Amino acid sequence: MDSSKRSHWSSRWAFILVTVGSAVGLGNIWKFPFMTGTNGGSAFVLVYLACVVGIGVPLLMAEAMLGRRGQGDPVDAMRSLAREAGASRLWLAIGYIGIVGALLILSFYSVVAGWILEYTVRAVGGFRGMDKAMLGEVFAGLLADPLRLVAWHTVFMALSAGVVLGGVTAGIERANKIMMPGLFAILLVLLGYGAVAADLPAAFRFLFHFEPKAIDAQVVLAAMGHAFFTLSLGMGAIMTYGSYLGREISIARTSLVVATADTLVALLAGLAIFSFVFAQGLEPAAGPGLILQTLPLAFSTMPFGDVVGLLFFVLVVFAAWTSSISLIEPATAYLVEHFSLGRRAAVLLVSLLVWLLGVAVALSFNDWSGFKVFGLGLFDLLDTLTSKIMMPLAGLLIALFTARVMQRAHVESEIGLGGRAFGLWYGVLRYVSPVAIVLIFLNVIGVIG
Ligand code: PFF
Repeated sequence: MDSSKRSHWSSRWAFILVTVGSAVGLGNIWKFPFMTGTNGGSAFVLVYLACVVGIGVPLLMAEAMLGRRGQGDPVDAMRSLAREAGASRLWLAIGYIGIVGALLILSFYSVVAGWILEYTVRAVGGFRGMDKAMLGEVFAGLLADPLRLVAWHTVFMALSAGVVLGGVTAGIERANKIMMPGLFAILLVLLGYGAVAADLPAAFRFLFHFEPKAIDAQVVLAAMGHAFFTLSLGMGAIMTYGSYLGREISIARTSLVVATADTLVALLAGLAIFSFVFAQGLEPAAGPGLILQTLPLAFSTMPFGDVVGLLFFVLVVFAAWTSSISLIEPATAYLVEHFSLGRRAAVLLVSLLVWLLGVAVALSFNDWSGFKVFGLGLFDLLDTLTSKIMMPLAGLLIALFTARVMQRAHVESEIGLGGRAFGLWYGVLRYVSPVAIVLIFLNVIGVIG
């Protein structure tokens, strides 16, 4: 499509902010800490960092590059890139997998974000006087209550759709400009508090004390899947955001900043969270309930726990909100650009679809808990399908398309990397990323691990 008609971010920093907004989300503050807790602490962290550097960053650059060169929503961008390379239309699959995957992720992401909204409201009253058993009951009670889950999911979807309705700069960019600095400020306050009043050294040891013995195939593969999720890879979000990026901006450098910021937030949030957990002598391997059951227990007893608890949940809401926006935008852009639908109608249609699926996810915790596919409830099924299948598959295709299908000269002129750095990045995409991703697949189908 004619690129002059498409919206563009107002600056390089705006792109960095919105892309960090997409990357930093429940993945960093909910998933990363509990996965670290259940996968042996520092062993998981080390492999996750290696995956971010070795697979995540190269793919982040590639996906943003495809978006900018393709100048369209994920499907239309892939159509023009495939045409330019004289390649099969089958490569459009990258666009479709992304758009559908993003909607599937959002359907359960929004339900989890709904839990966080409920806890934010609870945090206003504080968690004082609540013990472990009471907090366990609160969480179990929430999961058992379909109406409550659906109500919070509805609120969160409305918040997210509201921002995307505003458009690329007036909606998405503006929301990120408010929430992301707020998120960083709160994170620093929490970390400072962790250093002064909680057990930061214990958290540091847990995350960074290298224990090679704890690394096994499961840890490696879990860490690799998480690198995809946390960097928002393969779901059309980065491609769509990249398509609104001006020609003069270096994709390689901006992607590096984004990946560094995302990783820093995960590590700093992890340090803060585990410093609270260890200061209260709590269990780091509590699983998905870590920030909802274990952490409020810490807030219930520590000094200024009410304020710290509220700040913490506001931080998580901001993180989830700026990510969910990026999950709505790819399908919206597709409907607007491909079917000439108005933006309002497109956002409403996309949100309604996600909302309906999210209602089914909410019910899968209670009334429909008997419904299982391959032994998994709908929530786990969607998480597995997206993180372990669709994201790695899209990543694999992006690596192959960029380094084996596109003309090397086109890639080189678009990416903004010179000489050896280009050679290294290109080589990783050609060989390392595809092999690593195939290993994830072999694990999913049970051949290894
Ligand atoms: N990166 C987000 C997180 O860590 O919470 C989740 C996400 C957003 C995944 C956007 C995929 C995506 F396209």
